[in-house]
Amino acid sequence: MSQLSDLLLSCWVVEAARSAVMASRGQDEAAVQTAARARLLAAACHNEGVRIVPNYATRHSEFLGQVAGDDEQMGALGMIFLQRLGAYIDAHTGLLLNDADHDKLVEFGQTELDEVNMALMSGRLLPPPPAEWPAAEERRAPGEVLARFGILGDPHVGLTETNESLVTALEHMAAGGADFVVANGDLTRNGETEHFHLARKIFDQAKLDVMVTLGNHDLWAGEGDVSLGMERFQAAFDGKPYGERTHNGVRVILINSADPRRSPFPPFDMMQGEFKDAPPQTVPGGTFSNETVKWLRTLQPAGPTFIVLHHPPFPFLGVPPLVFGLDQASTAHLAELAVRVDAKAIFAGHSHRCHLNYLEDVPVFELASASDWPFGYTMVEVTDRGWSLNLKPIDYDAGLDPMSHRDYLFRRYATGPEEARSFVSLNESD
Ligand SMILES: [Fe+2]
Ligand SMILES: [Fe+2]
Repeated sequence: MSQLSDLLLSCWVVEAARSAVMASRGQDEAAVQTAARARLLAAACHNEGVRIVPNYATRHSEFLGQVAGDDEQMGALGMIFLQRLGAYIDAHTGLLLNDADHDKLVEFGQTELDEVNMALMSGRLLPPPPAEWPAAEERRAPGEVLARFGILGDPHVGLTETNESLVTALEHMAAGGADFVVANGDLTRNGETEHFHLARKIFDQAKLDVMVTLGNHDLWAGEGDVSLGMERFQAAFDGKPYGERTHNGVRVILINSADPRRSPFPPFDMMQGEFKDAPPQTVPGGTFSNETVKWLRTLQPAGPTFIVLHHPPFPFLGVPPLVFGLDQASTAHLAELAVRVDAKAIFAGHSHRCHLNYLEDVPVFELASASDWPFGYTMVEVTDRGWSLNLKPIDYDAGLDPMSHRDYLFRRYATGPEEARSFVSLNESD
């Protein structure tokens, strides 16, 4: 499928899911109008030969429902969250629908906008609860420890940031007995040369070897339509953004999934519900290059194996669905690899949330970012009887605004289920 037909399907998924969530929250009128928006998009999908998949909408609505919460608990904030996703659809369907249909779509959205404004005027925006570390019981596999590695999720090194949480996370990983570290892409804030060099400096100062790969933020198009990220990465890191590493028989396969194509859209501000006044970056979704696919085919089973990459596999059903994750063809290669090498788990980043899913029965974790709430890093411990994963706090004072509704929505989004932050698996013979 082309990028735009993927986006069209994604927009249908969002509208069908939003309608279901609104209905369950008692926003009946908005639910009906949003269902009409979904029907417009379903018709456009039909005209473009794009098959709609109801199951995607169901799974996306489960996720949206968890973030939006119920009306009593979340008040107007749940409605605002849903309405801003609708604004994302308004903005992105400008390229996908004809003018008459796009006008109708926007008109159907007026009801929920009115509801949000009424809720705000009647003072239904409740103060957020305090931010608390999403605690989970530490889990460990029994047996003799073979290897430990840390995962530094989405570090996003930038010049205006302190990058303090990353330095602290690396110190904690060394103190916690990590044998090495994997940084799973989005190394930089937006792929500037200086960001890459600073990331290299931070990793060099750590007392541990850091394996690195790329994310969408690293491939910033920069000048015109030219993606300069790969050149800048190679100048700073002097190597390839993929490879494998074995420690005491435990192997990590690191895959580059960053796509250098330029996005047709500027970045979108979810809280304001409009495009930012900034040039487009690369597409947010991931793909494997021919070089990557060729290399993956050479990999054979060899001991306990873990796969790390930036993008979660298809179908990604967080926000925004489908187009934010790894594409379908690359996911088929990933699934084939995971089965061939008998992978214990797949670790992705990109979404800055804790989430657990499965690909061919292999657990797929989306891991928290070390530069975003809840400011943690992930430790994986492999023993001769199994393996475990735990999200660990950095004890970093991020200066979070306890009254910020944006931060509260992000906390609801990022926390995820406990099993995505604390997980243990025993070998089959155990
Ligand atoms: Fe990121
Ligand atoms: Fe990313």
